[in-house]
Amino acid sequence: MTVSDPTRGGTGQDETITSGFPVPDEYRFRSIDQVRSGLASVHYLADDGIAGVVYLADHLAKPVLVEGPAGTGKTELAKSVARLTGGRLIRLQCYEGLDESKALYEWNYKKQLLRIQADQGQDWRELEDDIFSEEFLLTRPLLEAIRSTEPVVLLVDEVDRVELETEALLLEILSEYQVSIPELGTVRASRIPLVFLTSNNTRELSEALKRRCLYLHIDYPDLDRERAIIETRVAGISEVLADQVARIVRSIRTLDLKKDPSVSETLDWARTLVLLGVQSVDAERARDTLHILLKYQSDIDRAAKELAGVDETS
Ligand SMILES: Nc1ncnc2c1ncn2[C@@H]1O[C@H](COP(=O)(O)OP(=O)(O)OP(=O)(O)O)[C@@H](O)[C@H]1O
Ligand SMILES: [Mg+2]
Repeated sequence: MTVSDPTRGGTGQDETITSGFPVPDEYRFRSIDQVRSGLASVHYLADDGIAGVVYLADHLAKPVLVEGPAGTGKTELAKSVARLTGGRLIRLQCYEGLDESKALYEWNYKKQLLRIQADQGQDWRELEDDIFSEEFLLTRPLLEAIRSTEPVVLLVDEVDRVELETEALLLEILSEYQVSIPELGTVRASRIPLVFLTSNNTRELSEALKRRCLYLHIDYPDLDRERAIIETRVAGISEVLADQVARIVRSIRTLDLKKDPSVSETLDWARTLVLLGVQSVDAERARDTLHILLKYQSDIDRAAKELAGVDETS
């Protein structure tokens, strides 16, 4: 197993990755603008705040903790950065009950047992060294990201779903880019991965975790960006319709709803309208398709009422 220095500077190694995206010696990105235009080229539209944090994550070698409402592009950001840099996306989907053996590594007990059974009177120490070697190790996403010799983007998705104790598993990785395996030693990253953690803020994350990360809050996009996202992501939509959709969604978000429409729901709605052959969305069309945008009947009723009001005044 390679145990190497996690610092990345001055090795002269070729960091040119794929798709003609030029990468200087040490860093993936040269400027915030380059991050933004690069992300746009893979259909992710970032504002200055998002692009700035990604740039800093690269230059400071720090993980990014991305928080914000559902469906605002938190997970998609990590995927898009992977696409842009040509890095392999390694994803750890968090859930309640996730433990070390699913997040980091576990020993292949069955194989170890077979090896012990097949033993022909070998010295126990030798046997022990043997069964706790690489061959018997099952690597899980976190260890895999640290060991990878290729460029990696590590996505720890929905980290607020794991218990506080499990969060502690991440700390060593996030600050040292290393994993300690008692039987094997410390595995250090030969290339520091870009790391994104996402959270819907269903519970407070620990101070220890937060301290190790750059913080990025992704909120609903402003009108111009949401319109641009619709145009980028919805095939065959006209500028007029994209504009209308963005405006209506924006006005619906000002209502006091149980659950505001997310960007992903905006996109579903826009796609629906295109499928229905709608050229221009009036209040009636909007009302008929509100269930694509909103997921509570009380919210649908409320928005329908609001749209009816718009109709009367227009
Ligand atoms: N800035 C953006 N540019 C382009 N597409 C976007 C952007 N933001 C969101 N989207 C679209 O919205 C969809 C939903 O985004 P994503 O799954 O990343 O949300 P999320 O914030 O991770 O939500 P959740 O908290 O529910 O997991 C994406 O698949 C993408 O199509
Ligand atoms: Mg997500």
